[in-house]
This record gives sequence, structure tokens and C-alpha cells, in this order.
Amino acid sequence: MPSAISFDPDRGVALLRTPGGVYAVRIGADGSPRHLHWGAELDLDALPHPRSPADSSFEADAAADELAPQTGPRYGPAGLQVRFADGTAGAQWHFAGHRIDGHELRLRLTDRHYPLAAELCYRIRPSSDVIERWTELTHTGTPADGPVTVTRLDSAAWTVPRLADYRLSHLTGGWNSEFQLQRDRLPVAETTLTSRRGLTGHHASPWLAVDDGSASEEHGEVWSTALAWSGSWRITVHRDPVGRTTWTGGFGHEGLAWALRPGETLHTPVFAGLYSRGGFGGASRAWHAYVRSAVLPAPERSQPVLYNSWEATGFAVDQAGQMRLAQLAACLGAELFVLDDGWFGARTGERAGLGDWRPRSDAFPAGLRPLADEVHCLGMEFGLWVEPEMVNRDSDLHRAHPDWVLHAPAREATELRHQLVLNLARPEVAAWVHRTLDELVTENAVDWLKWDANRPFTEAGWPGHPDPDRVWTDHVRAVHRIMDQLRADHPGLRIEACAGGGGRVDLAVLARTDQAWTSDNTDPVDRIGIQHGYSQLFPARAMAAWVTDSPNGATGRSTPLRFRFHVAMAGALGLGGDLTRWTEAELKEAAELVARYKEIRPLVQRGEQYRLDGGDGTTAVHYAAADGGEHAVLAWRPATRFGHGPAPLRLPALDLGARYRDRETGEVHSGATLRHRGIDLRLPAGDYASTLIRLVRQEGA
Ligand code: DGJ
Repeated sequence: MPSAISFDPDRGVALLRTPGGVYAVRIGADGSPRHLHWGAELDLDALPHPRSPADSSFEADAAADELAPQTGPRYGPAGLQVRFADGTAGAQWHFAGHRIDGHELRLRLTDRHYPLAAELCYRIRPSSDVIERWTELTHTGTPADGPVTVTRLDSAAWTVPRLADYRLSHLTGGWNSEFQLQRDRLPVAETTLTSRRGLTGHHASPWLAVDDGSASEEHGEVWSTALAWSGSWRITVHRDPVGRTTWTGGFGHEGLAWALRPGETLHTPVFAGLYSRGGFGGASRAWHAYVRSAVLPAPERSQPVLYNSWEATGFAVDQAGQMRLAQLAACLGAELFVLDDGWFGARTGERAGLGDWRPRSDAFPAGLRPLADEVHCLGMEFGLWVEPEMVNRDSDLHRAHPDWVLHAPAREATELRHQLVLNLARPEVAAWVHRTLDELVTENAVDWLKWDANRPFTEAGWPGHPDPDRVWTDHVRAVHRIMDQLRADHPGLRIEACAGGGGRVDLAVLARTDQAWTSDNTDPVDRIGIQHGYSQLFPARAMAAWVTDSPNGATGRSTPLRFRFHVAMAGALGLGGDLTRWTEAELKEAAELVARYKEIRPLVQRGEQYRLDGGDGTTAVHYAAADGGEHAVLAWRPATRFGHGPAPLRLPALDLGARYRDRETGEVHSGATLRHRGIDLRLPAGDYASTLIRLVRQEGA
């Protein structure tokens, strides 16, 4: 069924149909849009009317609002919280009509008394089950009305059908342990997932999935949502005591207030929702397809195999050392060389130089151009690390503009990693950042920016500004705008998102970057779990994964080169070790594995991903070409147990009736065998065993 939107004025019902589901809203008797259905196709006429808040004095919450307005007997988390100049709180809506424009629906609401209007917006796409929702809130009055204070403006509230039970999947973590998947029974309570950091955050991601507790990797209904926002955010999931689950989410955390002035409109970020009947794996594949087709700015380009010098050299970068690494990287097949931190100002460590974006004269006497030219001569693109939102106190920039940082007049500004955050909400600061980056890219023939951000906000004040909490939204929007502008002005420029590893990965940052640095943790065993969580929402082509040295610099764990490669080959492969210390044999093996990666890259970066569990600690990912002709399976067993060889790995993505040839062994297997019995993994003996299996469908078989 093609995607389509309709509105029945007699029944006040809006319908959004996507290829695999239907979403329905009914305008309630009180003028508020109420949730009717989200899930599989059904006879909507047979559904009971959503209860009106006036139906019962105590149970009114049982019907969910599309955006709860904080009036009437609604006691769940309110997605819209406003206060008018006379002290009155909350909106009381009148439904003022709808507009359908292609695949976009807007429900227009006006307050019955005060000069406030809202549009609840919905967008669908022709071949996706993702529904994008956002809110636009407008002050429709005159200066005499005074500003409206907004303390909460969510993008949307989502409600699932009544289920026998509810389970919540979400991602938690920390620096070096991002994207840890949590899957727990949802308590009868309000559960808040949030970031108060001004960044999306390492510790929580604005994605969640709800099922009834029975969904598995490939079966069952799953409802999931993801917020496209790169700053502070909050999602509150409310499982009420009478069996209904709703969640409301948007930008900002509690305690912030924005003044909405006459004539002004506040736009929220998109909160996207997806209904899937194919289990968690099916939901992830639908998200991956959406990110590739509707989010990433240049999905048609393959992500290059990069070399990054950070783990090899730390801050000790200079022209000769970087050129040596570049030559070695080129021999291994790297296509992009990225010069990381330490190349500018007085930046020989964490304490000084951030903000002074001129090459360090002792390390790069003739600037960066000789290195960039050498990298280009070696047939690679040139990438440069920047952290444009930050400044060290010990820097020329801070000495010249101490007022440019987030601060409050009578408070000490906390330094984290010896740095402060520039207030990009200030137009002159954003303009300076844009100009600086634009010049760097132009003068140094930069093909790739690694845009880092190594600390969250603290003391996020904006002295003298009448609406200081705007910094929480406007800083983020400025980051987005500068990225967009750079891309527009430098076609071909690519940007890698980074925030101390995966501290700022979300649908909004991926809309203007090409991939994200997943984690500073490059230990391959830890990475398996991190990558598993990342893949719930994001596709492999946007997941940067490096092969680094052994023993790992952070964990001290020693692992074979092949294992490190096989884990990193499941994403956008990069090399991050000190190649000057790799043996000839290691360099040779690495070059072979890079070549192998390039062979499977179309599958990894464009194919469909299936996460597999082989039991006994063996896990795998299977990448299948869209037409089912080619397949790559990467399997890993971190620890072996005597007498517990891995079971044959079942490959549910294969066609039962087809035959597949193993490219390495030449063996031909039937799809039915590979699906129902599985393929023998033939892992090498010992811990940290891994393999790559490539299958090709036999035509005419
Ligand atoms: C944090 C990043 O995640 C690292 O890859 C590296 O770029 C450092 N910052 C540099 O300071």
C-alpha cells in the first residue's frame, strides 16, 4: 500500500498510511487531537472513541493526547507547558482546521482565549514506515499581550495500542561505553530518558523501542521513536496504572524557560516514529533505510577507508611524523588521512591553544599545505580535526573574547578537560566559527572535517540576554547551520561527527555529517556491544570503526589483527594504530584485510543488516545486498570454552529456494539448509576468533 494522508471532516479523523501500517488521530470533543491508532491496518470504524477528559473524574488520562496541553483533567506528563502574561498556565485548544500538502499533514489549533496557535505536523515518505512529527508554536498576539513563557514544547507524543505487557528498549552508556542496549519491563510509572548536557550525550540516546515483551530479533511488533536533536532533550514514557503507554519527547530538559514574543514561532525538532512487525531487526533495517534515504546528506557516496593518527601520536603531531604515517596508510589502502588534535596554536596538550586555529609553527613550519599536498599525492583525501565550539582559557581567542563563553556573571565557569564552551547562540561567535572553518577548508584543501566537542555545558548563562535559556536551542541550531553552510559552500566536503567518541550522534547530526565516531573505545571486544547498540537505529555506513594497536591502549587487551579487523569491518572501516610499529607481516595482513573490506563495502554500507546470535558468546552481523545476490557475514567469538564449539550459524535473510556458493571454500549450500541448519563457522582455535563468510546466490539454481 503506497503512503497517503487523508482527513475525514465528518468524523474528524486524520489517517496516515504507510506501506506497513496506519496512524490515526481523532479530533476530540474538547478540540485537542487525540490518539486513535498506530500499528497494523484494521477497521478503524470499529474502534471506540477516545475517551474525553470529561468522561470520568478520575480516569481521563486513559486516552492519550497527540500533545498534552496541561489543561483539563490531564495528569500525565504535558508535552506543552506555557504561561501567559496574566499568570494563566496551559492551552485550551480550538481545532482550527487541517492542511494536507502531499505527504505532509498539519493540524492547526488555536487557544480559545489567548493569542497562541500550534500546528501539529506529520510527514510520511513514499516507501518508509517512518512518520516524522514536529510542532510549531506561534504567538499570534501583539506587543500588548506580552510574551508567552514556554517551559516545555515537545515535538510529539506517541501512544501504542494496549498491549498485554510493555517492555522498553533504550540505550545508555558513558564515555568509552556508548550505546549499551537496555531491554527491561516498563514499570507502571513515568520513566524519563534525558540529556541535560547541551549535547545528545554518551549516557543516553534519544531513541527507544516498545514491545509487549515477546518481540524477538526477527519477529513481533515493535514501536520505536527517535528524536532528531543534538542538544539537551527529554523523553518521558508513561505507563499508566490502567494499562496504557504513551511517551512525549522533545528538546530541552526540565527547568528551562523560553519567552515566545508576538509574531514569533518556535519550531521543534522532528521526533520520528516507526511501527514494524519484523522484530527488533526489522525495525532497525527500516530505520537504516530511512537514515540512508531521508537523513544522510550524501548517501550515494561510499565512506572511505580512513587513517586517523590520534591513537598513534596523541598531541605529538608534526609534519614529518604525519607524512610517514600517511605513506604507510596509503600502502595499506587507506583513502583518507585525518590529522587529529594537536596541530594548532599552543596545543601540545589539553591545557592550551583550543580556539587558535593556526598551524603550530614548530610542528608545521610551512603550514598544513605541504602535508595536505603529500596526502593528495599519495592518492588519499585530506582530513582535519577541529573542535570549533570550544576554547582553552589559555588561548589567544579567550584572551581576546573572554565574554564569548557560556557563563553567568557571578559564577565560576567550570572547566572540563581544561576547556570552556563558546556560546554559538551569539551571532558574532557563530559567524567567527563559520569563517574560521571556511578559511581552514579553503586554504588547506581539506576534504573532511572531524568535528569534535569534548565537553558538555555547565553554567550555561548568556549575560545581558533577555531570554538566556535560548542558548540551549540556538547553540545547537548554530552548529547545524554552520555544518550545512560549509557543505553548501564546499561541495564534496565531508564531515565526521564526534563528541569525545559518540557523545553527539542523533538523526539531526547525521543529517549534515557522513558518519559518526562511535566511541573512543577501540577495544574490539567492547566494540561488539557498542556496535550492537548503535545499530539499533543507525546504519553501518554511519558507524566509524577503527583498527588500532594491540594490546589496546585503554583496556590493555591483546587481540589478533584479524579479529580487530573483522569487528571494524562491520562499519565504516578506519585504521588508527601506530603503523610505524606494525611488523611487515602485520602490514601485509592489514593490506589484505583492507582489500577484502573494499570488496564487501557495498554490502556493509548499503545492504540490509541482520544481527545474529550464534550462542555461547558468538555473535555475527550479516549484510545482504538489496537484491539478495551477495552476502557478507562477520562472526566473532571473544572467548572459547572447551567442548563448546559454536553451533552452525543460521542465516534468516536467505531465500529458502535459492542456492549459495561460499566464495572462500567454493561449497554450495541450499538456502533452506543455511536458514534451518546454519553455516559452519570454522573459527580458528582460541579466544578472539573471527571469520568473514561471503556468499553469492547461484543464478538459475
Ligand atoms: C576525542 C575524540 O573522540 C578522539 O578521537 C580524539 O579526536 C580526541 N578527542 C582529540 O582530542
